[in-house]
Amino acid sequence: MHWMRRRGCPVALLSIDCFNAGSLPHEDNVIFVVSTTGQGDTPDSMKAFWKFLLQRNLNQWWLEGVHYAVFGLGDSGYQKYNGLQFVAEKLDKRLLDLGAVAIVERGLGDDQHPSGFILERWRITFPMLIKMLQRSPSN
Ligand SMILES: Cc1cc2nc3c(=O)[nH]c(=O)nc-3n(C[C@H](O)[C@H](O)[C@H](O)COP(=O)(O)O)c2cc1C
Repeated sequence: MHWMRRRGCPVALLSIDCFNAGSLPHEDNVIFVVSTTGQGDTPDSMKAFWKFLLQRNLNQWWLEGVHYAVFGLGDSGYQKYNGLQFVAEKLDKRLLDLGAVAIVERGLGDDQHPSGFILERWRITFPMLIKMLQRSPSN
């Protein structure tokens, strides 16, 4: 993350259980890196945040003006690999439903992938994402 700061892109890195979900509408750009555990379950650290996001009283404009990217970590050796319908996809869909705008297509990391975690497409899209954040008006 230091290299992002060096490139003029101020960034706060924190575990999701240290982030107040109610303040999400005040963020300009958020990158979510989420893993899948159990049998396609959200990690414990994400449970309160996820419960908050599922509240029925949040409408389709709640996250208007928020730009986001979701990167899911999983393992295709598990029956419920995150790319199919689990944590990363659920989060991505809910953020869209609440009016946020995706900056890049959802990325998926697979522990079984021969080149490691990052799928090839995110090798290309991640640097693009950083460039877009550097250009965003709030920075
Ligand atoms: C107990 C356990 C359950 C997991 N269940 C899933 C799963 O259902 N789907 C999936 O895609 N990955 C699953 N994974 C893989 C993790 O998401 C993946 O290994 C993790 O994101 C990488 O973190 P690590 O290096 O700490 O393992 C599971 C991992 C563990 C340890």
